[in-house]
Amino acid sequence: MDLSDLRGKYLGQIGDAADEASLEAVRVAALGKKGEVSLKMRELGKMTPEERQTAGPALNALKDELNNAIAAGKASLADAALAERLKTEWLDVTLSPRPTQQGSIHPVSQVTEEVTAIFGELGFGVKEGPQIETDWYNFDALNIPAEHPTRTEMDTFYMKRGEGDDRPPHVLRTHTSPVQIRGMLNDGAPARFICPGRVYRADYDQTHTPMFHQLEGLAIDKDISMANLKWCLEEFCRAFFEVEGIELRFRASHFPFTEPSAEVDIRCSWGGGQLKIGAGDDWMEILGSGMIHPKVLQAGGIDPDQWQGFAFGMGIDRLAMLKYGIPDLRAFFDSDLRWLKHYGFAALDVPTAHGGLSA
Ligand code: DAH
Repeated sequence: MDLSDLRGKYLGQIGDAADEASLEAVRVAALGKKGEVSLKMRELGKMTPEERQTAGPALNALKDELNNAIAAGKASLADAALAERLKTEWLDVTLSPRPTQQGSIHPVSQVTEEVTAIFGELGFGVKEGPQIETDWYNFDALNIPAEHPTRTEMDTFYMKRGEGDDRPPHVLRTHTSPVQIRGMLNDGAPARFICPGRVYRADYDQTHTPMFHQLEGLAIDKDISMANLKWCLEEFCRAFFEVEGIELRFRASHFPFTEPSAEVDIRCSWGGGQLKIGAGDDWMEILGSGMIHPKVLQAGGIDPDQWQGFAFGMGIDRLAMLKYGIPDLRAFFDSDLRWLKHYGFAALDVPTAHGGLSA
């Protein structure tokens, strides 16, 4: 059996094939079920054993050779196609990241990052909780019973239950304090974490919007006192406001979830209608705080005879307004590009305690 014609013909066609489809056509014509080489294989059965001894290996060798040539042809076509694609689809990795200069980081995100970086340095982790809460987490567990005036003072948004469902309604959380309870129940004591997030109250004017942002924080251990709270908050304010001479004033106050409770004011001035932090004769309230009420620890599954802790809560938007001199809270949520360009922050300047917060 002389196979040299077949070999020459098919190797030639393989060499000429300009794309994968033509290569496949050659493969079918030669090696497919009814291909020329396959038909020759079938003839082996009709041969004498002697003839078969030479024809068999020769046919197998041809089949292998053609298969290899087709595979090599496919590979080189793929290489050529890739090279062609790379010519048009190239990326200059030395270009500066231009798109990031078009967007900016919202002051709320910026301040959240700054605050997280500062408390991170102080050993606080970060927790988040749901924005739709049960009234137990939002009120009862925080020692705010059903008839407590705080429930109405907070202008709570209640969510309707389904028809015939008379369980207490869910609420849009009115503060981040319920995350205290979730954190305690989850991790137990000791604990040290902050909880930034959105909160909701039915209120709207220059300094109030129905959705705003708070930051909660707590530390629980065996020997935590008001002194630790004071140090921590002073440390925080010094780092956050980035001005010399920050001065705080702790004023006795009342919150259901802390005992004793203190509101913290920061020294400031209002010269020429402009608020300045760090000097002057005025005081501006910036946060609420205190020692966690024993009932609140209990609701969080923590034994108040063994553990104590401090907690604090502040408005993130308010911090942003104070630090960056932004007069109207409502503008925070208007999505006005001119406002965002003016008050926004460069996307690649991630605040860190060591690298600078707002630099
Ligand atoms: N939850 C309070 C509010 O929304 C803020 C607050 C005050 C939180 C004192 C605290 C705290 O953790 O100790 O007005």
